[in-house]
Amino acid sequence: MCADRQPMAWFAPLPSVEGMDLKHVNPQPPNALALPRPLFVREAARTFRDTGAVAPSSRHLADRLAAPMWPSSMVRRPAAVLEVGAGTGPVTRALAALTGPADRLDAVEINPRFVSALSGSLRTDPVLASAADRIRILSGSITEMPLDRDYDVIVSCLPFTNFDPDAVRSILDRYLSVLVPGGHLTFFAYLGTHALRSVVSSRTEAARHREVRAVLDTFARQHSGRQSVVWRNLPPARVWHLRTPERSGRQADAA
Ligand SMILES: C[S@@+](CC[C@H](N)C(=O)[O-])C[C@H]1O[C@@H](n2cnc3c(N)ncnc32)[C@H](O)[C@@H]1O
Repeated sequence: MCADRQPMAWFAPLPSVEGMDLKHVNPQPPNALALPRPLFVREAARTFRDTGAVAPSSRHLADRLAAPMWPSSMVRRPAAVLEVGAGTGPVTRALAALTGPADRLDAVEINPRFVSALSGSLRTDPVLASAADRIRILSGSITEMPLDRDYDVIVSCLPFTNFDPDAVRSILDRYLSVLVPGGHLTFFAYLGTHALRSVVSSRTEAARHREVRAVLDTFARQHSGRQSVVWRNLPPARVWHLRTPERSGRQADAA
């Protein structure tokens, strides 16, 4: 964390991404990265708490999460980008497609099987391979990962609703601690999981889930975050998009 930067007390307003046409933004062919899908399903069954999904993110969700890298978002270039919870790489790929030669993308992933699949895709997938020199895959948990730079964009793919509320708070704080002024943060949660959990889980589990949702909503409200829903994903997902304020002239002079 930079010595001159404390966690932000508020976030700058940002344009809504609701209803934006993303068709022309990300020129990925649709079927690349199809191969790791069986691996994803297997790992979801084996480590559901960490994986937290039944399928990799759709192209639509990946594009929405990568929105801060669209030219229209005016992100500072070259940009340093952190993706947390890369899995088999659909969001890594959407981000890679939007990076230029001087941008940097760090992808953190806790599951060594996903790390190994993603490392392979870095060589075999055309979009990832063409950006491989700017991508670092960091194997381990974001809670312990030493990070040697600050980021202009953080995209979190973590299954927050599977975690304890305190763990979610501390991960969100970590994101703020490595986000530059004017930086973007996107994260998501699946729709409908709360209703499902109230039916199939214990009361304690349903209460934990409710509390995590409250943590995410409060965090987004405190930081003027915007929400949008991506319906074309299994299951559909709510995406939050926040932006830290730019540093004032005085702060910039003092830095
Ligand atoms: C919902 S999946 C998303 C995977 C992929 N980004 C996608 O969109 O399909 C969540 C991912 O976060 C990873 N993960 C869970 N806890 C983590 C942690 N503490 N640090 C880093 N990655 C983590 C899981 O292994 C899994 O790959």
